[in-house]
Formats: sequence, structure tokens, C-alpha cells
Amino acid sequence: MTLSVHPLGPVFGAEIFGADLTRAQTADEVAVIKAAMDRYAVAVIRDADITDADQIRFSRQFGALELPPVLGVGAQRIARELYDVSNLTIDGEISPADVTKRKFGKGDQFFHMDSSFNTLPTTWSLLSARIIPPVGGDTEFIDLRAVYAALDAETRDAIQDATAIHSIWFSRRLGGYEVSPEMEAKLPAVEQKMVQIAPDGRPTVVAGAHAGAIVGKSEEEGQALLRRLIAFSKEARFRLVHNWKPHDLLIWDNRCTLHRATPFDDMAYKRDMRRTTLLETGPDRSAQAA
Ligand code: OGA
Ligand code: MN
Repeated sequence: MTLSVHPLGPVFGAEIFGADLTRAQTADEVAVIKAAMDRYAVAVIRDADITDADQIRFSRQFGALELPPVLGVGAQRIARELYDVSNLTIDGEISPADVTKRKFGKGDQFFHMDSSFNTLPTTWSLLSARIIPPVGGDTEFIDLRAVYAALDAETRDAIQDATAIHSIWFSRRLGGYEVSPEMEAKLPAVEQKMVQIAPDGRPTVVAGAHAGAIVGKSEEEGQALLRRLIAFSKEARFRLVHNWKPHDLLIWDNRCTLHRATPFDDMAYKRDMRRTTLLETGPDRSAQAA
């Protein structure tokens, strides 16, 4: 069966039918998926009923894996190459309200790029739906290439040569997570240019909830600019909502999109998502180890 790619909206996003992720992709299939990602930045592969091993093999056809850092915020429930994006205990039950993993995960509800706080540059994230709740728990996206193209001249000038400081702890604090100095030392902040070139050659904004300061600006001034940028990016014309279907594999390019989790009744329903994130260059490793 050949792959078919269908745009999801006028700006970005596509769905891909006909992929069999239980085997290796052919060179043609890899090329079709890569081209769709370069153009649409977000793509959902439908009917991907896969195991952790399938997800790892498929992901590796597009780059080396960024291995999850060991932060000690929860026991390992799934393959160690995957990020556990769930509300479940190691036994697969809904976790208690006060577990650290839940508080840690709240930061994902602010628009962000995965791993923009890491020293190793990353490309795509691939999120596999294993269990989805009956209502809520959508994932939302922003196309930052479209945002850049629509910026007013003043904002464009302000960010054109600017560098932002990204730290996972900025977004965890936004989510109400208490960060200890020991935690902070495990993943120190990094710098990212605020305007970069997306894979399709268009300029893109690079920002999001991990960006908490701008080099050479006061804390207030930097945060005001970052907040203004996010507020503008949230306009409906740049947005896409992904309403999960069973067995979706959702892929996004962290270099030119923002995404966020949305709430659901997480004490009543299970949500089991598993993520791989790709590095620009190999081999597989965690940014913490780097
Ligand atoms: C992630 C993430 C969003 C979601 O896995 O990086 O932000 O809806 N997930 O679970
Ligand atoms: Mn994320």
C-alpha cells in the first residue's frame, strides 16, 4: 500500500494513511514522510497500532534518539528510549494525585518546543497514543514559520538577532513544580537564537515556555517581549488542534512549532502516550550525559 498525505488545514499539519509501522519503512516511504514533515511541520500517521520496539525502529529511520534524562521523578514503566507521557503508575493504574510525575507534567500545558533547553539540537518528536481518554487531552500546535511571517516590523527587529535563554525549569515553575538546586544543576540553561531557518527554508521564531530570558535584556524587559510573542503566536490563525484517535502517531518538528497538552479528567481516565525525540546528529544519547 502506498502512503497518502492529506493537509489538515490551510497553514500546516497533515495526516498520513497507509503506513505499516510494524516493519521498516522503505526508502520511498521515508522520503514521503520527511517531505511531508518539512512542508507541514506536524503530521499524524493514522492506525499505527505499535509496540515500543516498533516506535523505536520507526523513529530511528529519521535520526538518532534523544534518550530521556534520568531525573528520578518516576519509575520506568516503558522502554528506556521512550519518554513516558502518561498519568499511570508502573503497574498501569491511574497514579495518585500528589505524585511528582503529575506535577512535573503540568509544565507541558504551556506552549513549548521539546528539549529546546538541551545542549544537543533536536528535530522531531513522535508521540504514540496507546490509551486515550474519552474526552479532553487534545494536543495543540502553533506554526512558528507562519508567526514569523506575520510579525510586525518592530517585533521582528527586536528578535532578529536576539538570543533567548532556555531552561526546563522555567516551564516547570510555570506549572507549579518546585525546583531544587540539585535538580537545576542536572539540566542547566542553554542559549538559542530567536530566529532560525526551518527545514523548508522559511525563517521561524524559536521561543516557547522553556525560554525565560533574553541575553542582554533585563529580566522584566526580556519576559515582556517573550510574553508578547507568545500571546501573538496563540492567535487562532496559527493554531491547529489535534483531537486524538486510537493508534495515532503524531509527529511534530520542534524547530518550527510549539505544542501543548490540554487538560482532561486525569483522575478518572487513563492517558498513555509514549514519546521519542530525535537528535539532529547521532549517536543516541541523553542531553544530560552530553
Ligand atoms: C510531549 C507533550 C503533549 C500531550 O510529550 O512532549 O508535550 O498532549 N505532550 O501529551
Ligand atoms: Mn512536549
